[in-house]
Amino acid sequence: MNEHTQQKIGVVGGGLMGHGIAYLFAAAGHHVNVFEPFSDMRNSLPRRLLAIIELLGDDPRLLKRIAAHDSLEIAMGGADWVFEAAPEKLPVKQEIFAAIEKLVAPSTILASNSSAIPSTEIGRHLKNRERMIGTHFWNPPHLVPLVEVIQNERTSGEVVERTMQLLRRAGKVPVHVRRDIPGFVGNRLQHAMKREAIALVAAGVCDAQTIDTVVREGFGARTAVLGPMEQADLVGLDLQLNVAEVLYDDLDRTAGPHPFLRDKVKAGKLGMKTGEGFRKWTAKEADAVRSRLSRFLAEQAKARRQNVRHADERTA
Ligand SMILES: NC(=O)c1ccc[n+]([C@@H]2O[C@H](COP(=O)([O-])OP(=O)(O)OC[C@H]3O[C@@H](n4cnc5c(N)ncnc54)[C@H](O)[C@@H]3O)[C@@H](O)[C@H]2O)c1
Repeated sequence: MNEHTQQKIGVVGGGLMGHGIAYLFAAAGHHVNVFEPFSDMRNSLPRRLLAIIELLGDDPRLLKRIAAHDSLEIAMGGADWVFEAAPEKLPVKQEIFAAIEKLVAPSTILASNSSAIPSTEIGRHLKNRERMIGTHFWNPPHLVPLVEVIQNERTSGEVVERTMQLLRRAGKVPVHVRRDIPGFVGNRLQHAMKREAIALVAAGVCDAQTIDTVVREGFGARTAVLGPMEQADLVGLDLQLNVAEVLYDDLDRTAGPHPFLRDKVKAGKLGMKTGEGFRKWTAKEADAVRSRLSRFLAEQAKARRQNVRHADERTA
């Protein structure tokens, strides 16, 4: 078994993340078996996968490499890797891996896509904990390049390296997160910014729409090509320090979630799904946001593939 050849991938849960994970591995040439216990989700899987085919203009024949099963035993049989994308509940995930451990070879790598539960906890009762790893895909996993590969306190270096290699070869951009901490890296950064954004709106400094404009049209316009650390190096750390001296004491330090957010949730203002969150949304406006995002991510994904193809042709 090696990550350069066709692998047998087991995916647990065929929901929002599971179907995208299944797709990206099938598109990379691997065989994917999805375990999905609910018949409605199993039955809707082909339709959801076809929608990705249409979005990306891929060959529908690649879907022949994906099969959905109601039997965990059949779905996991012979798997080289297992990617779990089941509901975000620790006992559910522990139970799943306890069952899978009995069904797969000792060499099978066991990965959880949990966004918040440490894989250290998920794998706590496994016999061989060195093969348990966190792989945090971003939604939608077939379009967003990043995968955070989280090495927990027991994961072996070899399991990290092989998983990174598998993901790289499937066109993903894996990063090695060396400690199994809440929020890993991406969500810590994202929520640090949202924490300040919520506090600014709560304090009446600006409205929610202004926050979105500032991020999208300001520093967000360059973040796809310039990360915050290289941006700091670009402007100079002396300037970074000067700004930090003036600004940091003024940034929000509310302990726990801001009351402004708690009040919104208490009032049933949950965002697009209820017509109002930080901003007000008609169904049409909400649909326009969703399709703008989907189109943008699909265009980016196609452009990246095109670049890879051109690079391959140059080196051929
Ligand atoms: N939604 C996101 O943006 C996102 C991003 C990164 C990570 N995650 C993580 O991915 C995991 C899955 O999230 P999702 O958004 O795809 O959820 P989802 O509800 O869309 O999918 C979960 C699927 O698991 C199935 N399921 C239920 N019980 C099961 C069981 N016992 N065994 C196997 N499958 C079972 C459900 O029928 C469903 O199809 C969670 O751990 C979540 O935290 C989600």
